[in-house]
Amino acid sequence: MLELNRFPFRNRTRLITTKSHFFQIQQQFLKEVYKLLEWDIGVILSLKRTGIKREIIKKALTEEKCVSTKTSAADLVTETDHLVEDLIISELRKKFPSHRFIAEESTAAGEKCVLTDSPTWIIDPIDGTCNFVHRFPTVAVSIGFAVNQELEFGVIYHCTEERLYTGRRGQGAFCNEQRLRVSRETDLSKALVLTEIGPKRDPDTLKLFFSNMERLLHAKAHGVRVIGSSTLALCHLASGAADAYYQFGLHCWDLAAATVIIREAGGIVIDTSGGPLDLMSCRVVAAGTREMAMLIAQALQTINYGRDDEK
Ligand code: IPD
Repeated sequence: MLELNRFPFRNRTRLITTKSHFFQIQQQFLKEVYKLLEWDIGVILSLKRTGIKREIIKKALTEEKCVSTKTSAADLVTETDHLVEDLIISELRKKFPSHRFIAEESTAAGEKCVLTDSPTWIIDPIDGTCNFVHRFPTVAVSIGFAVNQELEFGVIYHCTEERLYTGRRGQGAFCNEQRLRVSRETDLSKALVLTEIGPKRDPDTLKLFFSNMERLLHAKAHGVRVIGSSTLALCHLASGAADAYYQFGLHCWDLAAATVIIREAGGIVIDTSGGPLDLMSCRVVAAGTREMAMLIAQALQTINYGRDDEK
């Protein structure tokens, strides 16, 4: 484990986050998730009312962290990722003992990442861990739920802006009290496109990554943005604040919740080949319209990251 102590901020406040505090806040978040499971999406609204604004990750963001690496020097994990994941799983397991779990840090620790027909929670305890390590305030908790391999609902919490994104199949998508709607743009030359870099940094991968970006810029896309959190970028797409998203190297826990939210906001989520989404394939194109998604898919060269269920 590498101790990083490199936060040059002057006058920073050192916040103490205790395990019981984490526990208390996590329970509030999960209460919202349970309501969603009980098909009560109308009630999942103001986080301010539930007091979740003292949210755990927001607090831990300002603390010094113990950081280690996983698949590459840019693939980071902290003790908070583990703590949040453990709390979410232990709470959900108490309530739903027969359900299965796919979660980022458990998978990194060697658990199998296979989606079966059983009710399954797909969890990213902190999406945007690199942002989190650097105190860049774009981090989220993401929880998706699937039954019979069909994504049923997704909940994504933007930790620093207190925005709760929810989507339930057939019931719409919301951010706090507001219904989400994707952009209807079909013209790539008028599009704002989002992507993420993914963890690999070898020369061949980087060449393809930049060449994909270049292709979209040559096609005169208005811009290509990288914000450091796949789930929140996908939420921006669901909100209509961007027209498309693509990525190679994201995982099922980055995608599960966001997929329901985008679909329920009227958007589409497909494979980079233009075919149906494969949640385990580590690649995706999402857009407000099918036309836009196909234009993006046609422009991309594949970067091979393997599959989540073969690791
Ligand atoms: C990662 C982030 C990053 C993206 C990676 C994701 P994590 O999730 O969303 O922006 O490039 O592909 O896996 O590791 O921060 O949970």
